[in-house]
Amino acid sequence: MNVVLGVGAGIAAYKAAELARVLMRRGCTVSTVMTAGATEFIQPLTFAALTGKKVITGLFGTRSAEEVLASSVEHIAVAQENAVLVVAPATADLLAKFTHGLADDFLSTLYLAFTGPVVLAPAMNTNMWNHPATLANLDVLRSRGHKIVGPDSGDLACGTVGPGRLAEPEWIAEAVIAALRPQDLTGETVLITAGPTREAIDPVRYITNRSSGKMGYAMAAEAAARGARVVLVSGPVHLTAPLGVEMVAVQSAREMRDAVMAHLDAASIIVKAAAVADYYVAEIAPQKLKKTAARVALDLDPTPDILAEVGAKKGDRLLIGFAAETQNMVAEAKRKMATKNADMVVGNLVNQSGTGFEADENEVTLVMSTGETRHIERASKREVARQIFDQALRLRLSLHASQ
Ligand code: CTP
Repeated sequence: MNVVLGVGAGIAAYKAAELARVLMRRGCTVSTVMTAGATEFIQPLTFAALTGKKVITGLFGTRSAEEVLASSVEHIAVAQENAVLVVAPATADLLAKFTHGLADDFLSTLYLAFTGPVVLAPAMNTNMWNHPATLANLDVLRSRGHKIVGPDSGDLACGTVGPGRLAEPEWIAEAVIAALRPQDLTGETVLITAGPTREAIDPVRYITNRSSGKMGYAMAAEAAARGARVVLVSGPVHLTAPLGVEMVAVQSAREMRDAVMAHLDAASIIVKAAAVADYYVAEIAPQKLKKTAARVALDLDPTPDILAEVGAKKGDRLLIGFAAETQNMVAEAKRKMATKNADMVVGNLVNQSGTGFEADENEVTLVMSTGETRHIERASKREVARQIFDQALRLRLSLHASQ
């Protein structure tokens, strides 16, 4: 993915360097264009070193016509290569220039020449942000289909508190990724479960498992980026909610079941990535249990199988389950698909190093109700999520065609 990063003249320009790093980490190639003012805040060399690419700066007047032409041709070529233009920080001045089509420096000229998606991350003083002129400009820019990310509220460099702070680089990067995704889940509600469940023993202890929630959260971020309304029913995890996702926080398997059933009607795709406890403690002790010298036993009752319950009443909804296994992965995934009436089960081995529970990467095998299986090579959980949705949409088409 090619990204053109436009850097405006604001104190937040230094955060654009972090954005460049985040974009690179997410597999993007980043070319930087800085306004003359931006170079007063941060050196072009920083971006050149981070991105490994020459940085275009400033006014036409500071460069020879040949240089400008060469780099503009280069950037127009990039624009035609399915690139995104992201401007961070987008100052009040840049927003005004873009709105009115002024082209008196390289970045504003590039904006006019650019035909791909545009993401703007404004940052400025609160009064400038709230000014009717800025608000009117934003209306125009939004009406062109540009994505506006932030600003966040908080302490500003000018000493005031309020909206105006540049959005977090992770959020801006997510908007950039989303801008290049096909919007093939628009109009759909995707219901996703993620993370472990926690089954209380007494007020201070519980039974849980090693699920980090990363795979389910990656599925949620991917579905949202592709235009879906996403409801994410999450067990207790240490992750930030993905951009634009409706969160429902639960603890136990039974709470997760109730939350899933409450949102089932609206859903067209259900993804059960959660590692649900199979048992809960039959009687939760009202007070902290005290130790004794004797062996103790816990009475456990089976939890509801949420996937099977959804499978029994899914209608034409697409149902995707997960099977985290330590052996016989494909056979187990097939068995779970059949017994729980899922359309697809994502099988993975959780006893390999670097993938599965807690890891940032995964390697999975998809088994499908059509009898097909498909292996997804080791990749980031987000990339695996992208491929799972690609395959799930193909599967749905073939299931509908065969009806
Ligand atoms: N699942 C569920 N409710 C449960 C248990 C599991 O919805 N009470 C779902 C999981 O979210 C996952 C799939 O079922 O999508 C498979 O979960 P897994 O724990 O691998 O399967 P189990 O049926 O519990 O089988 P086993 O423990 O024997 O491997």
